Amino acid sequence: MDFTTLVEQRRSVRAYAETPVPRAAIEQCLQAARLAPSACNAQPWHYVVVSDTARRTELARLTVPPVGAMNRFAVQAPLIVAVIAERPNISSQIGAALKNKPFYLIDIGISAEHFCLQAAELGLGTCMIGWFDEKRTRALLEVPKSRRPVLLITVGYPESGSPAQADHSPQGGKRRKALEAVASTERWGQPWRRSD
Ligand SMILES: Cc1cc2nc3c(=O)[nH]c(=O)nc-3n(C[C@H](O)[C@H](O)[C@H](O)COP(=O)(O)O)c2cc1C
Repeated sequence: MDFTTLVEQRRSVRAYAETPVPRAAIEQCLQAARLAPSACNAQPWHYVVVSDTARRTELARLTVPPVGAMNRFAVQAPLIVAVIAERPNISSQIGAALKNKPFYLIDIGISAEHFCLQAAELGLGTCMIGWFDEKRTRALLEVPKSRRPVLLITVGYPESGSPAQADHSPQGGKRRKALEAVASTERWGQPWRRSD
């Protein structure tokens, strides 16, 4: 799949088939995540792949708030990957402090998207989940106190007939702000002029 098609078609998948995810496929996603750029090349990420049914189900439940239906789909995913923030190297820490920017979170976002784009290229669906009980996730996955679970990613083949399978139009049915609303020319607020 060429890059433009890949970014147009990748979307959050919230309905999964029971088909297991081959180990080689998940490893390819991990390799893509590993190759992401990061501030001072700190690579402040660690991926915990959870496939064991009992542990995975418990993890999925930690994403569901006491009220509402948010993230209920997570129990259906055959795999959940936890992205753990590692301590960045000293240069990145100093840079982040001096510039008042959480470089490690930017790094992790990029790496996680590498993971998800590689998954999409392999026909896998993913959904990043930022809403989960961090404390209980840490305990469940035995993450040391010095590290922080910051993101979960559900992974699996999209359920047949799900929107993720049906919509292959440019933008894949995604709702996005107009280009003019997110891009300027030369200075902030000067509207981007589209090329013909
Ligand atoms: C940092 C982050 C956290 C997210 N957390 C959740 C979440 O907790 N639950 C959920 O259903 N989707 C979550 N999403 C998915 C977004 O809702 C989704 O990416 C967005 O609506 C755009 O849709 P698309 O991914 O299909 O293009 C998260 C995405 C990101 C990047």
